[in-house]
Amino acid sequence: MGKLHVFDHPLIAHKLSIMRNKNTGSKDFRQLLEEISLLMGYEVTRNLPTVDYEIETPVAKMTAKKISGKKVAIVPILRAGLGMVDGLLTLLPVAKVGHIGLYRDPETHEPVEYYCKMPSDIQDRNVILVDPMLATGGSASDAITMIKKRGCKQIQLMCLVAAPEGVKKIQEDHPDVDIFVAALDEKLNDHAYIVPGLGDAGDRIFGTK
Ligand code: PRP
Ligand code: URA
Repeated sequence: MGKLHVFDHPLIAHKLSIMRNKNTGSKDFRQLLEEISLLMGYEVTRNLPTVDYEIETPVAKMTAKKISGKKVAIVPILRAGLGMVDGLLTLLPVAKVGHIGLYRDPETHEPVEYYCKMPSDIQDRNVILVDPMLATGGSASDAITMIKKRGCKQIQLMCLVAAPEGVKKIQEDHPDVDIFVAALDEKLNDHAYIVPGLGDAGDRIFGTK
């Protein structure tokens, strides 16, 4: 089963609390999402392999380290996942970015695909799939399937807030995928919204409500 990493960090908790507040506007919401994504990225990238190489500092020769192995692709699920890309790109400036367009049908809550554009060498990259909300898990599970169909072997899922139902679905459908969340909330409500959650992430990022 994929591991669930729930972040326990005062900066992330503090920033997320401001995002949850219904009175926080889009500008601050976007800024905080970017900041938390950067902080989470520090842990999500912890196991990137490194190799030794020789360099010369102004003082002496030394054996230094650089990141090796497969390159990274960041893949946001549209729309709300876009809000997590820039924080990760700050850490991984040469990562390529793929896009998956999915929206939840308002009646069935099932994901509907409308777009997919991946880097041409996606099968050779480690993918960090990003979406702030893991509710039923349907969108993230379908997105992972789409990425796997393109030959990717190593996928991590990074979300801001998750419901237990969503975590369970990903662990059942994709036991090879580790999940990173800033917070694990209580449950879903009758509209499949996360409780207490933060509302509709896409609307709050883009001011579309
Ligand atoms: C939201 C969110 C996830 C999905 C989560 O997107 O950003 O993609 O719902 O729900 P699930 O786990 O039950 O699938 P939404 O469909 O509202 O689209 P948007 O980002 O374009 O607003
Ligand atoms: N999508 C959101 O944006 N928020 C939720 O709570 C559930 C799905």
